[in-house]
Amino acid sequence: MALSAQDAELSPAQRAEQLRHEIEQANYNYHVLDNPTISDGEYDALVRELRALEERFPELRSDESPTQRVGGDVARGFKPVRHPRPMLSLANAFNRDELQAWYDRVLRLVPNAALTFVVEPKIDGLAIALTYRDGDFVLGATRGSGIEGEDVTENLRTVKEVPQHLHGEPLPRLLEVRGEIYMPTEGFEALNARRAEEGQTLFANPRNSAAGSLRQLDPQVTAGRPLCLFAYAVGQVDGVRLESQWDILQHLRQWGFPVNGLDQEVQTLDEVWAFCQDLQERRDRLPYEIDGCVVKINSLAIQDELGAVGREPRWAIAYKFPPRQSTTRLLDIRVNVGRTGTINPYAVLEPVVIGGTTVQLATLHNEDDIHRKDIRIGDRVIVQRAGDVIPQVVKPIVEDRTGSEEIYRLPEFCPSCGARIVRPEGEAMARCPNGACPAQLVRTLEHFVSEPAMDIRGLGIRVGEELLNHGLIRSPADLYRLTRQDLITLPGIQEKSADNLVRAIATSTGRPLANVIFALGIRYVGLQTAELLAHAFGSMEELRQASREQLEAVEGIGSKTAASIAEWMAQPQNAAYLDALRDAGVTWEDQPDGGEAGPLSGTTFLLTGRLESLTRGQAEARLRDLGATIAPGMSKGVDYLVAGADAGSKLDKARKMGTPVKDEDWLLSVIETGKLPA
Ligand code: IVH
Repeated sequence: MALSAQDAELSPAQRAEQLRHEIEQANYNYHVLDNPTISDGEYDALVRELRALEERFPELRSDESPTQRVGGDVARGFKPVRHPRPMLSLANAFNRDELQAWYDRVLRLVPNAALTFVVEPKIDGLAIALTYRDGDFVLGATRGSGIEGEDVTENLRTVKEVPQHLHGEPLPRLLEVRGEIYMPTEGFEALNARRAEEGQTLFANPRNSAAGSLRQLDPQVTAGRPLCLFAYAVGQVDGVRLESQWDILQHLRQWGFPVNGLDQEVQTLDEVWAFCQDLQERRDRLPYEIDGCVVKINSLAIQDELGAVGREPRWAIAYKFPPRQSTTRLLDIRVNVGRTGTINPYAVLEPVVIGGTTVQLATLHNEDDIHRKDIRIGDRVIVQRAGDVIPQVVKPIVEDRTGSEEIYRLPEFCPSCGARIVRPEGEAMARCPNGACPAQLVRTLEHFVSEPAMDIRGLGIRVGEELLNHGLIRSPADLYRLTRQDLITLPGIQEKSADNLVRAIATSTGRPLANVIFALGIRYVGLQTAELLAHAFGSMEELRQASREQLEAVEGIGSKTAASIAEWMAQPQNAAYLDALRDAGVTWEDQPDGGEAGPLSGTTFLLTGRLESLTRGQAEARLRDLGATIAPGMSKGVDYLVAGADAGSKLDKARKMGTPVKDEDWLLSVIETGKLPA
């Protein structure tokens, strides 16, 4: 996902669109699927680049931009919970100067205050809020968007470190505690080892493992996972006076919460920095992952005075550790083939331990990137784990060269099917052009059955490969013809799992149109784009026939995406694939919003701008639940435009068209009462 030479030649508008697309996809993979595809460092870099572009070219700003939101919409399956006070996030400092700048600003705002700090490890898990009434645990919620999270009470009841009853006297009548659910490194490794044995996909890191374990629909699954808690804050409290962060930590401990033993109260910024340095040095020896330190102004009165900017308090900051690096030898460069045929080079390394994990493989992005960094086979290289996800090769150590290093050339032929590899003009990635390439088919199938696509459980990579190798299927559409008999001929498939699989495949025909469109795996068509398409065209048949211009006319669909869809649809083998899916009975029409009739059936809304008390996605979901339709863009069909802060072109259009424009208070009253105000 690095910036390639080609990307650098894109216009700012094109690059911004590309960045938004990548960020949206990364958000979805991270927050909803718990399956990150890029490291935190890469993610931060994308957001920073987009923010910089939007600052330089204000006309590129959009209320739709991921820079205007915090990630993490609520996933399906859990009841939404509104946090009584928003769960904030933290601004980052990456070095001593940035820490100093934060402190200077605090001093400017509260010049005469006597400041002390509390410093804490930044636990790499997921934030939760625990509510107690008269000492009993009654509600547990994930952070979600910060405004609204998911009700995971039953799952949290299975976590031993979450107190079910508070200790001590006097007990607050109401207490909301915030903290981090995490998975200790040892438990994480044992869990992954077990999953590897069972042929299940592995968790990328302890954070994702903790998040995936907590957000299980079946609490029994959560109960079997080694989850732990560190409490570090109080959201709401009734009946007990708290003076400082240090005071909070002591109370939390007395009430029976696990509080991190490394937390310290310190007097000066020098001591803060010393703590950060010391912790950085010790991080690999801790039994859990931390990714930095959190520095908080101790006094709650001063915290109040300082307040917050957006979702970040001025009274706290996270010092983020630099990525962990090490050097090793690059033994070889190999490639694998992605779903859309991309040829992805990766490095085979002499095994090296970085931050407690043995690294043997690292991504190399693409051929240009390898040459730009001048990475050669046989080089000693610097390798880093940034977000602790996929390791990266940073650069070669040129001084260590012996002259026997080899310059790398991408293979001419696809390692899976032998087709000649092509590199389309203006693209960073080389690709295998053969749509029937077995490696691509495996990836296509993997995507097709994944949860946000057709959600066919029990069809892992291994079964997928077997099905293709045995010639039982040649495309995902063939899944719908499989019988129990076919499946039990495969090694390791018992009758019961064959039955379950046949049932799961049959059930998937009822997936909503947006998921079916996403399942096709068309380049640049992520789930959000698929949703726009489903709403705009209403059926797969209409979408198939849409011209490039019609596609581009849909708000939110850019020219690159439109071209990619039109191109995909024009391929004869894809037309045959679609016919086969249709004949298998897969959903072909969009079940319009509000199909479940409700008080707002027949009313069409469009939301724009930033809402204060909930995200736009959440508001739209509520309206849909009430039977309303959400329009994909501004048109005559829209009955009401709800405009939040910084609304842009949609608001102008609505005014021109004479569409009633409403504000957030109006929207909240509609959502609360379930009807339009008289
Ligand atoms: S304080 C405004 N303390 O970091 C206060 N957060 O980037 C925010 N985190 O969502 C929370 N360890 O998940 C706080 N000792 C700690 C923390 C911590 C980890 C996480 C938390 C939060 C994120 C903010």
